[in-house]
Amino acid sequence: MTVPDRPARPKVIVTRELTDGVMARMEELFDTRLNREDRALTRAELEAAVADADVLVPTITDRIDADLIAKAAPRLKLIANFGVGVDHIDLHAARERRILVTNTPGVLTEDTADMTMALILSVPRRLGEGEKLIRAGAWDGWKPSGMLGHRVNGKTLGIIGMGRIGRAVARRAQGFGIRTIYHNRHRLPEGVEAELGARFVDLDALFAQSDIISINCPHTPETHHLVNADRLAQMRSDAYLVNTSRGEVLDEDALIKALESGQIAGAGLDVYVNEPHVDPRLLHLPNTVLLPHMGSATYEGRAAMGEKVIANIRAWVDGHRPPDQVLEGWD
Ligand code: DGY
Repeated sequence: MTVPDRPARPKVIVTRELTDGVMARMEELFDTRLNREDRALTRAELEAAVADADVLVPTITDRIDADLIAKAAPRLKLIANFGVGVDHIDLHAARERRILVTNTPGVLTEDTADMTMALILSVPRRLGEGEKLIRAGAWDGWKPSGMLGHRVNGKTLGIIGMGRIGRAVARRAQGFGIRTIYHNRHRLPEGVEAELGARFVDLDALFAQSDIISINCPHTPETHHLVNADRLAQMRSDAYLVNTSRGEVLDEDALIKALESGQIAGAGLDVYVNEPHVDPRLLHLPNTVLLPHMGSATYEGRAAMGEKVIANIRAWVDGHRPPDQVLEGWD
């Protein structure tokens, strides 16, 4: 059945290479334009690509701002983002032009939580430094004073943002004997708190009491620079910070100063403000573990993200509300 004003085979622009299975299925179902070169499109290329498309499938490497949306309208009807975070899309401009936005929640929760946990373990136990020591041929053998770090068992983890990923991190923390406190826009139901072994606190308490803080909230106007110089000053000097959300939730400059001065003990980062550019000052800090935005980078996760994109486009073609329509960002 075709739905009025919904083409049965919409023209779909995919800005990056996806898994082979997902790309093949998209070509079967839609009039799909792929980016086989798999490099971020330039602004001019992106503008030309969206000018006569029904659906755009962007990723975090594309800036979908009001100007681009104006150029894509009136034909563009759906932005089916490949990824859960949508802070690179001007949701307000899309809504004004009646363009739907969807994302891919749920399928990358466990992978991102695993990577968060990996950083929670790596930073206090100095995994990055240990690895570099071996590769530099500089390890002179075991000694009681060698590579001492801090124990995580029995410590307090402060999770900022208790959505799907935050809760998955709390579940993992329980297995490591870590206590969890958290802050979220809304307090979780008591039963969920009990199941996660997590206690709701205000941000002041979270920053003052945590041995390790993990940022798991989305980047929105409300969370922009939520972790700033004042908040970092509330942390103890033996506490660590981990960020697998978005670089912009942190004031990166303030973080670097706090790391350089020893105001906090270390940081594990998977995300940065100007990706792929990483502030060179971070590269020289031994008390950091730095990863290239790979929290959700599993074969399984990428395939499932692609399936979600396809399901969202198909629902729209069939005249239904796409299952992952974004209303106010993600959690
Ligand atoms: C996500 O899905 O938000 C990942 O961070 C990549 O954009």
